[in-house]
Amino acid sequence: MDDLDAIMRHWNTLEMRQNIQIPLPMSREAERKWLERVVTEDPLKVGYLVLAIEDKGSCRFVGTTTLHGFTGPNRRAEFGIAVHSVEDQNRGYGTDATEVCLWVAFHVLGLHTVYLHALANNTRAIHVYEKVGFKMVGRFREAVFVGGQFHDLVAMDITAEEFMERYPPGISPAAHDGEMMPPTD
Ligand SMILES: CC(C)(COP(=O)(O)OP(=O)(O)OC[C@H]1O[C@@H](n2cnc3c(N)ncnc32)[C@H](O)[C@@H]1OP(=O)(O)O)[C@@H](O)C(=O)NCCC(=O)NCCS
Repeated sequence: MDDLDAIMRHWNTLEMRQNIQIPLPMSREAERKWLERVVTEDPLKVGYLVLAIEDKGSCRFVGTTTLHGFTGPNRRAEFGIAVHSVEDQNRGYGTDATEVCLWVAFHVLGLHTVYLHALANNTRAIHVYEKVGFKMVGRFREAVFVGGQFHDLVAMDITAEEFMERYPPGISPAAHDGEMMPPTD
């Protein structure tokens, strides 16, 4: 709950809401309830895991990554990410956090595939996703109404096998520099 103030600082900007496809701003109370839910519910029961992205040195809250909908036999989850402040974007947090979240998905939760949807004009996000191994699998035409017009939505996914080629068991992603290092525990 300590991160609520930091979340409210940047979460409701127009650019953020357009990129994550939440059209209307969220109230502090709605956000508080969401946060309370995600820090108290058992992710394995509800199939919804939210991880905070923090600056490694200062432990400052930077954003969140999510895996959603992974209950059931398909072992498949939808991935989401937001690096909240514009000042924190383009500094490597998103790439690093995506790799760590996929590592959790495949090495901890034992998922089989992870997928996502992104606005086709969110070229930075798509670049980051491709960099960590997501593949473009399709395109929904004029699927999202943003800023007064319809935009295409791209679909991307990555399989456990593809991720394991880069991060086999026993190897965990090192923060910031993309190097591989053995787990510390
Ligand atoms: C998309 C997002 C997660 C990326 O995280 P980030 O920390 O900003 O990204 P990184 O610093 O790790 O990497 C940015 C990469 O994109 C590149 N990039 C920057 N602007 C770009 C653009 N307009 N088009 C293509 N690539 C771009 C950078 O050069 C860098 O690539 P490189 O490492 O190969 O040089 C983050 O910017 C964010 O949360 N944005 C707002 C919410 C959002 O869009 N969420 C995703 C919804 S699908």
